[in-house]
Amino acid sequence: MSTSNAIDGINACVFDAYGTLFDVHSAVGKHRGRLGGNADSVSALWRTKQLEYTWLRSLMKHHADFWQVTRDALDFACDTHGIEDAVLKNDLMDAYLSLSAYPEVPEALVALKDRGFKLAILSNGTPGMLEAAVRNSGIASLLDENLSVESVGIFKPDPKVYELAVDRLGVAPHEIIFQSSNAWDASGAAAFGFRVAWINRFGQRPERLPGKPDLEIRDLMALPGMIR
Ligand code: LAC
Repeated sequence: MSTSNAIDGINACVFDAYGTLFDVHSAVGKHRGRLGGNADSVSALWRTKQLEYTWLRSLMKHHADFWQVTRDALDFACDTHGIEDAVLKNDLMDAYLSLSAYPEVPEALVALKDRGFKLAILSNGTPGMLEAAVRNSGIASLLDENLSVESVGIFKPDPKVYELAVDRLGVAPHEIIFQSSNAWDASGAAAFGFRVAWINRFGQRPERLPGKPDLEIRDLMALPGMIR
């Protein structure tokens, strides 16, 4: 998309954290040798269960924070694969605090910041998890806010979560562009009223859900040229 059909009137860029800025599979990646042939399947099931538990707990009205949900999901994934190594499980949880940022993330954030956009994370992660992730990946100084669902006590895609960004950043929903690689999160944010860029890192098919993204791009590098 050229600048002439860029999305106008944007004030703030708000990012999903896990899967969008940070590679959740880098946790298992660090301990691949200890998981052997199960590594990819443990990592995939860990992520799938983690998200399912957020949605289910929100529907059940039994909130627990994302650290607990992530641990519960890891226990399920390890149990499924017959893994009982408590030290390995603790190491995998620790690795969640120092996930790798995707390679283009620092440069894209710098370009957006240089153009004067406010930058924030809006994530299911706890404040402690987010603080560790941005610090350990070296992007802390580029972000104005790390907003956690813990302020509202329910997970995405509850509209209260997206409302949190509006309240805390002091900008209208249509002045926010929200970036997520998680297509269901992109739908939730668009249904709420944000402008949305779906960062389709893995070439997935679109979700059949309310709320359509305004943009679909492969990574964040294209974003600065597409908004103003
Ligand atoms: C997050 C999850 C959805 O960061 O990845 O909110």
